[in-house]
Amino acid sequence: MSRLLVRGIGELVTNDPQPGRAGGPLGIVKDASVLVVDGRIAWVDDAGDSASDGEDEIDVVDAGGHAVIPGFVDSHTHLVFGGDRSAEFEARMSGTAYTAGGIRSTVAATRAASDDELRTRLANFVAELYAQGTTTFEIKTGYGLTVADEARLARLAREVTDEVTFLGAHVVPTEYAQGGPLGEAGPDAYVDLVVGDMLDACEPYARWIDAFCERGAFTPAQSRRVLEAGIAAGLGVRVHGNQLGPGEGVALAVELDAASVDHCTYLSDADVSALAASRTVATLLPGVEFSTRQPYPDARRLLDAGATVALASDCNPGSSFTSSLPFCIAVAVRDMGMTPAEAVWAATAGGAAALRRGDVGVLRPGARADLVLLDAPSYVHLAYRPGVPLVERVWKDGAAV
Ligand code: NIG
Ligand code: FE
Repeated sequence: MSRLLVRGIGELVTNDPQPGRAGGPLGIVKDASVLVVDGRIAWVDDAGDSASDGEDEIDVVDAGGHAVIPGFVDSHTHLVFGGDRSAEFEARMSGTAYTAGGIRSTVAATRAASDDELRTRLANFVAELYAQGTTTFEIKTGYGLTVADEARLARLAREVTDEVTFLGAHVVPTEYAQGGPLGEAGPDAYVDLVVGDMLDACEPYARWIDAFCERGAFTPAQSRRVLEAGIAAGLGVRVHGNQLGPGEGVALAVELDAASVDHCTYLSDADVSALAASRTVATLLPGVEFSTRQPYPDARRLLDAGATVALASDCNPGSSFTSSLPFCIAVAVRDMGMTPAEAVWAATAGGAAALRRGDVGVLRPGARADLVLLDAPSYVHLAYRPGVPLVERVWKDGAAV
């Protein structure tokens, strides 16, 4: 039996509100200890340092009065890809607009990369995530867009996470585009492939299906076809919607009981009400607006309406090449109307809700012992000290990473 006792925690964010705890949904305990047995939380001590019974070997860590929070849950990344788009970013910072079409250049670079190149890159990203306090992460396919390449990306993603999303409907690849050899019929022929052989090849690795429902990517009707085929194959639904302009992505996501609709930058009042009345999480991706110089989504409007909000990185080479949830928290607080408490909840418990997970994003008995010790006295410092590496130690399933 492996045991870990973290004591001397000045401020523990549990995301498990109980009588006597502070911070509303954050369920804050002051002067706390946490005991971990075999990778799970055994208990959280609300009454000061509890001594161990000394019967078994126990690893004791003194937090030195610093804060401990649940590991971040990044519910939206695109981490399997080749190449980079720094030249596109540089042009954008000189005034060129972001469009979905840029995805195709990463598709070409990804198809050209070997499994080992993609695997090495992925391993580096995973190390980067852990170092910044992310202990659970989703990864999408979407830069292969042939049956073999999408299955390859799903397989590689599955080597590092159980949260794999099949995103064959990321963009219509060049060979099926309207100006390509198939002409007007191309995009629908591509959707036929996505809901047929491509889904069959990816489904064994995937938990989720996703579609980019946006002008320049897939129409609402095409997105619906893809998502309904995924549901029929036993996958849960996520949607990229309302990123570049108003549209039907959010309404479609809510109708299909998606776990999450991501971006949510351009919302109508009806979209906001529909989200508030649903189980679908609104996942906001501040790295995108930061890196595309577009207006940030209005988190305050969603929260005031009663919607559940998550924050995620959307780490990808085109629209948001950051893997840092502390960065996203700082931006969400500064520019999206969130309080530090709301933003930290959104990047932990919110991400867990967006993945429909009850075992992560929360520190209560039985939950996974995914802990982040901050080099700071309070979670507030994540927003208060932007750009400063405050993650001191990270445990995943009770093991130091
Ligand atoms: O979530 N919106 C669609 N897909 C990505 C962008 C991918 C890219 O530009 O390569 C996103 O922002
Ligand atoms: Fe994305």
